[in-house]
Amino acid sequence: MPLTAAAADARVTAHPAGHPADAGALRRQDPELAEVLAGEARRQAEGLQLSAAENFVSPAVLAALGSALANKYAEGYPGARHHGGCALADTAERIATDRATALFGAAHANVQPHSGSAAVLAAYAALLRPGDTVLALALTRGGHLTHGSPANFSGRWFHFVPYGPDPATGLIDCDRVRALARAHRPKAIVCGSISYPRHLDYPAFRAIADETGAFLVADAAHPIGLVAGGVAPSPVPYADVVCATTHKVLRGPRGGMLLCGTELAARVDRAVFPFTQGGAQMHTIAAKAVAFGEAATRAYAGYARRVVANARTLAAALADRGLAVVTGGTDTHLVTADPAPLGPDGREARIRLAAAGIVLDTCALPAGPGRGLRLGTAAVTTQGMGEPEMERIAGLLTRALDPAADETVSTRTRAAVRELTARFPPYQGVDQGP
Ligand SMILES: Cc1ncc(COP(=O)(O)O)c(C=O)c1O
Repeated sequence: MPLTAAAADARVTAHPAGHPADAGALRRQDPELAEVLAGEARRQAEGLQLSAAENFVSPAVLAALGSALANKYAEGYPGARHHGGCALADTAERIATDRATALFGAAHANVQPHSGSAAVLAAYAALLRPGDTVLALALTRGGHLTHGSPANFSGRWFHFVPYGPDPATGLIDCDRVRALARAHRPKAIVCGSISYPRHLDYPAFRAIADETGAFLVADAAHPIGLVAGGVAPSPVPYADVVCATTHKVLRGPRGGMLLCGTELAARVDRAVFPFTQGGAQMHTIAAKAVAFGEAATRAYAGYARRVVANARTLAAALADRGLAVVTGGTDTHLVTADPAPLGPDGREARIRLAAAGIVLDTCALPAGPGRGLRLGTAAVTTQGMGEPEMERIAGLLTRALDPAADETVSTRTRAAVRELTARFPPYQGVDQGP
């Protein structure tokens, strides 16, 4: 029920006693919004969350997000802030950067970017001038908006030359990338994608960058959690700058991060603050520190292994049921598949699957104008699902996509999804790390 302005005022003026992130306080003060949040928690728990960009963070990460650091302003860097009272904010940020450098074997980490896009913007700001040429995976083939979309600062301020995967195999062909780099002499080469399911050949990208005098920027938003868990190659020894998100498989708060060597550290830091951002979000930085701590554990390495095993099983089960799985499988948490052989294209399939409680995204395919489906196993693996459940998910998904499926089939699939997710609640009795 909506609050009257006066009632809301009375309740927020004197803060109710208790922990700052007390959900009961929110319900008492603002039942309307509390109901929205409870509904979202139900939606996440009752559906199958197969978006490759999402996960369930641990209660400890949520606690840091809802902590007193949410109140703190801290422009600048530890030891050099523009605000007073930053001693503990400094400690939190130092813990975060120390954990990030140790986790990824990097000389320098900047944990302030508010998002993955902000990290990429800062990487470009550190290395490039407006008008410079940049080579990146084509947006129509799995590049991110920040890799040259005309709707984004990247496409407006830089001259992007796109490379694509081999249309027949879906694999990135480094010989083709080298030929383009020789022809266009880019100032930077970006390797990274929102939907490429295979490991990237970072040494090959490094060699191309060296040969053509380009910086190498690895946008590792997707694989970085697998790198932390030791199940994917690291871009850190090869790229001049690594950009990443701290959510997705890494299972931290929504945010970004940059890793680089000591030579570029000062340029990267200045590119984040004061060039592209203002005050750091200290509660998020504390939550990043918690997530890095979790990601350094043996439990997390086991989780990362299960994420990949689940994705491989899911890819094979989808292929068995007739979907065209891009590159024939996956090395990562991510499966890209074309549902067209079953009837619907990616867009239609996403709508039908949403009706059945199966949440995922559409994505570009290596050839043609059609959209495919992008699935990820990070969230369902956090819930404790394993390979038998991946087989079950593939069965439910193809049942929902069957062109002959009527209303009854959809209702039954939805019920089966609920029955499956009820056995794996995201926040009860689940291995969330240490
Ligand atoms: C490769 C890549 N780069 C950048 C981003 C941007 O991250 P954000 O949405 O946090 O800005 C994403 C997000 O999905 C991504 O996959």
